[in-house]
Amino acid sequence: MENFSIAIDGPSSAGKSTIAKKVASQLGLVYLDTGAMYRSLTYAAIQRNISLEDEAALLELLNGGTISFQSAEGMQRIFWDSEEVTDAIRQTDVTQQVSLVSSHAAVRTEMVRRQRAFTEAGGIVMDGRDIGTVVMPHAPLKIFLVAEVTERARRRYQESIDKGMDVSLEEITEDLIRRDHYDSNRKASPLKKAEDAIEIDSTYLSIDEVVEKVLHLAKGKMSIMNNSF
Ligand code: DC
Repeated sequence: MENFSIAIDGPSSAGKSTIAKKVASQLGLVYLDTGAMYRSLTYAAIQRNISLEDEAALLELLNGGTISFQSAEGMQRIFWDSEEVTDAIRQTDVTQQVSLVSSHAAVRTEMVRRQRAFTEAGGIVMDGRDIGTVVMPHAPLKIFLVAEVTERARRRYQESIDKGMDVSLEEITEDLIRRDHYDSNRKASPLKKAEDAIEIDSTYLSIDEVVEKVLHLAKGKMSIMNNSF
C-alpha cells in the first residue's frame, strides 16, 4: 500500500521520530520529520541574527530558503539550502527557541504547504504536533504518542549524554515542561490529539513494543482499505 499514510503526533521526546522512522522503513514508506523543518528555520534565523519574535522577517527568510532531506544508510540528513544542518538543529539553543518560531501562524501556513507537498508523492509517515489535525486530517491512521514527563526527560538526557552534550536532567525536565506548555497553548494549531487518533502511552514500553503496536494498527487499517475496493 504505497499510498498509505500515518500521522504521529505528541509532546516533545515521546519517541515520535524513532518510532516513525522504524515504522516507515518496515512498511516501505517515506518518513518526514516536520519538527526538523521548524528547527532548521530557527537555526537559520539565529545564524542571521533575525529576531525570533519577528514573524514577517522569519517568513521572508523561510520563503527564500529551501529545507531538504536526504536519506543515507538509515540516517536522515537535513539541509538548509546547501548547508547541512543535521546536527546543528539539535543543539540546545535551537531546542530552547524552536517553540517560539513555530508559534507564528504565517510560518506554520508555509510549513504546512510544504509538508502537504511531500504527501503528493505517495505513502508517508509524518511526525509532529499538528499532523493529524491540520497537515493530514484524512490520514487513515493517526497515532498520538505520549509518555510521562519524567520518562521523556530521562530519555532525552540519555540521548544528550550519549552525544557528549553538557546538560543536566533538571534543565531538560524544565525545558520539556516549558515546551509542552508552549506547544499546547499557542493560538496557531496547538498540539492536540485528533478526535480519531489512537493514543499510545510509551512510558513503560520499549521502542520495539511501540513499533509493533503501530504496525499492527497499520496492517489492520490496510486490510480494511483493501477489502473496501
Ligand atoms: O519534534 P521536535 O521536538 O523536533 O519539534 C521541534 C518544535 O517544533 C516543537 O517544540 C514544536 C514544533 N513543531 C510544531 O509546532 N509542529 C510540528 N508539526 C512539528 C514541530
